[in-house]
Amino acid sequence: MTKILVLHGPNLNLLGRREPEVYGDQTLESINEDINALGQQLGFKLDFFQSNHEGHLVDQIHESLGVYDWIVLNAGALTHYSYALRDAISSVQIPTIEVHLSNIQAREEFRSRSVIAPVCFGQICGFGSLSYLLALYAIFEQEGFSNDK
Ligand code: DQA
Repeated sequence: MTKILVLHGPNLNLLGRREPEVYGDQTLESINEDINALGQQLGFKLDFFQSNHEGHLVDQIHESLGVYDWIVLNAGALTHYSYALRDAISSVQIPTIEVHLSNIQAREEFRSRSVIAPVCFGQICGFGSLSYLLALYAIFEQEGFSNDK
């Protein structure tokens, strides 16, 4: 069975309360429930982790080695400057899909650059919480519709 780690970075624990006009009013818990429900339908095993600390996210990526087949990562603001996260993704070589609720290209200039994008399998942004679900569909396609692993 395909195992996926969904990683949420800084400030995403405040979803629902945090700038709802940008990020929507759904809480992280509710988003995780939706991701989990679709994941189960697609035959995936999912785990979830959120941290406001770069090092904890790096540790989690390291610990994913040999455990997860894919990582779905919303690195929050770390997306724009964390070479440590980028190196962690490169180090473990687990295919990682970068996701964002907002369209990072359509906002402040500093958000338009992702330092992790070059080492990610792909990037999905701008669809609100649907961005995470689209990442699961992308993985489903990539896995060739087969989940007998
Ligand atoms: C975000 C976009 C980032 O620029 C921002 O710092 C976030 C959320 C998004 O999901 O749209 O924390 O990753």
